[in-house]
Amino acid sequence: MSTAPIGIFDSGIGGLTVARAIRDLLPRESTIYLGDTARVPYGPKSPETVRRYSREILDWLLGQDVKAVVVACNTATAHALDDLRGRSPVPVIGVIAPGARAAAAATTTGRVGVIGTAGTISSGAYSRALLRERADLRVIEQACPLFVPLVEEGWFEHPATQLVAEEYLGSMRDAGVDALVLGCTHYPMLAPLLGRIMGPSVRLIDSARETARELARVIGAAGLEAPPDASPVQRWIATDDAARFARVGSLFMGNAPAPVEVVELGTAEMSAERLEPNR
Ligand code: DGL
Repeated sequence: MSTAPIGIFDSGIGGLTVARAIRDLLPRESTIYLGDTARVPYGPKSPETVRRYSREILDWLLGQDVKAVVVACNTATAHALDDLRGRSPVPVIGVIAPGARAAAAATTTGRVGVIGTAGTISSGAYSRALLRERADLRVIEQACPLFVPLVEEGWFEHPATQLVAEEYLGSMRDAGVDALVLGCTHYPMLAPLLGRIMGPSVRLIDSARETARELARVIGAAGLEAPPDASPVQRWIATDDAARFARVGSLFMGNAPAPVEVVELGTAEMSAERLEPNR
């Protein structure tokens, strides 16, 4: 057993959906969540840049003595998971394989849709993961780059979001998918709207819950679970703008992540400022 924290990271705030799923499933575990708000979005950036950012975050989390690392960002998982695993002395869990597993189990027609950032979709990582699960699947992928800014505006039910979503999801509907992987941290916030567009026969797959289950399996198998009498501590780290992190983060978490510490990555110096709760 281990009281060491679990490190969770994302390009920004969206990965709080994964942090929330981990908190719900593993309430005794301490966590350190790092959102790279200074360098978000990762979606349109090159694989090399996303790998470099991800390595810097891994090093920072390992410096906090984490016992496992969850890559909550789909784009970072797509571009950097293998690289991070090769470097890390502790288990590293991504969001793509758990999401693919859930989708492969959910589909009955064998037609699975995947939506994500431009980087995630162009990497082909979901396709590969789905076909590893079931070689007979037909995978239809669609990049939806406008969703992230719409979600960050809080426009979950806005007419503009409806219009954009109908445009993006047209190919999915035409292809008759019966499972749609929400392959980006932000998309679970759009689940009601996307569900209405796709119709009741299409299962929406949110990889957050499945990733939390995978984490539970991995730390359980390694004997690294927190002991029953653990007093969990949750730390929230941003690389820029603690106030925005807390404000937008509350949309994702249901309650504001606080206090928020700020660290600077990519330089030798690290600074920290604190945002007190309810500011
Ligand atoms: N976290 C990213 C993902 O899940 C979305 C935001 C971004 O583009 O950085 O792919």
